[in-house]
Amino acid sequence: MRVTMIGAGYVGLVSGVCFADFGHDVTCVDKDERKIALLREGKMPIYEPGLDELVAQNVREGRLSFTTDASDAIRNADAVFIAVGTPSRRGDGHADLSYVFAAAEEIADLMQGYTVVVTKSTVPVGTGDEVEKRILARRPDADFAVVSNPEFLREGAAINDFKRPDRVVVGGAEDPRARKVVEELYRPLYLNETPIVFTERRTSELIKYAANAFLAMKITFINEMADLCEKVGADVQQVARGIGLDNRIGAKFLNAGPGYGGSCFPKDTIALVRTAQEYGAPVRLIETTVAINDDRKAAMADRIIAAVGGDVKGKTIAMLGLAFKPNTDDMRDAPALDIVPALQKAGAKIRAFDPESMEEAAHLLKGVEFATGPYDCVKGADAVAILTEWDQFRALDLKRMKELLKTPVVVDLRNVYKPGEMRERGFTYVSIGRPGT
Ligand code: UDX
Repeated sequence: MRVTMIGAGYVGLVSGVCFADFGHDVTCVDKDERKIALLREGKMPIYEPGLDELVAQNVREGRLSFTTDASDAIRNADAVFIAVGTPSRRGDGHADLSYVFAAAEEIADLMQGYTVVVTKSTVPVGTGDEVEKRILARRPDADFAVVSNPEFLREGAAINDFKRPDRVVVGGAEDPRARKVVEELYRPLYLNETPIVFTERRTSELIKYAANAFLAMKITFINEMADLCEKVGADVQQVARGIGLDNRIGAKFLNAGPGYGGSCFPKDTIALVRTAQEYGAPVRLIETTVAINDDRKAAMADRIIAAVGGDVKGKTIAMLGLAFKPNTDDMRDAPALDIVPALQKAGAKIRAFDPESMEEAAHLLKGVEFATGPYDCVKGADAVAILTEWDQFRALDLKRMKELLKTPVVVDLRNVYKPGEMRERGFTYVSIGRPGT
């Protein structure tokens, strides 16, 4: 199959290279010249484990190319994927669809022969209908289908999530020609019996939002349980294990922490809330989830302040981890973006280290001193807070860290360490939802 991917961001780039790896001829198109130039040199614009090797291999084998000019790529394609951003619109939280519609119009102007237009970007219910309408308005003669195929990949595990998904969701492929194209695209997944959910287009669009909202709610649920655990002297990790072994609940996404962040959950939950309000069927559980998660980030800053005795004025707080989760350099809606300014406002000096996200963080956080490594970061600090559970923070030399800290206070917002052990080592240790912390 000849595949064109419009948008070489996280979703577009990972999906593009994985489709190439499935054996298809893929062209990734992006308007950003710098990004395309980087990709052509074999350099990745994002940090994602394994991506550079997979790109290099597929480029070498002639199945993957990058361009800023969509014309040929769209003309020759069997399937054109729209994988552009759908950021939150300033002011009202609705998904901004201007990039999606611009891509649809470009496709309309260029496509030749039967073309399947696939929306991979996360788009609100009804967007596929609008894409179809806009294409028809420009090209009433066009022979095409608009299919919804949301992507569920997680940053940091994106390649594996694409190649070994729990399921693939396809909406609006009623035309047998469209269905054949989709089946061909995902042939390797058919062969390993991945469930492929063929459904109506609007249903498919909603599945994506429902999945993300449910997961955000699940995290928020365990975060509230953690707060309760702290009050009643219970252990949230045991609660998570105890409920997670029930197959109806499931063990995943029950790690209590500083609140969810990232490029999807915050934006998609708000967009779902707005859509639901618009249709007069408010999703109050998700409205509450959003509010609780926002409050939680502020509460995390208070927790750090309390750990150093209630006043951070003039104190140095070391931050280990800034990205919203490990194995990514992505800072979008990272809890650090709320926690760091709140601490600064209370008078703290912040010194931070993150293995991948410091360059990005430097644009978003002012007045932060960036360290060269974890030990450099904690040196002389009044407390250290762990914000992201990078593997390298799980294996710190705690003796060395204790010697370097001015006062041995550790606020572990990701429950990386064991409370008993930390206390034995002489730390004042605060974590999330565990007895005595
Ligand atoms: C998410 C969805 O998982 C993915 O299916 C969708 O396509 C995009 O959004 P991603 O944002 O990459 O993926 O990260 P994810 O691993 O889901 O984590 C999101 C946030 O939730 C992070 O801030 C993470 O720290 C937090 N989280 C996750 C928890 O606090 N506890 C958990 O148990 C799991």
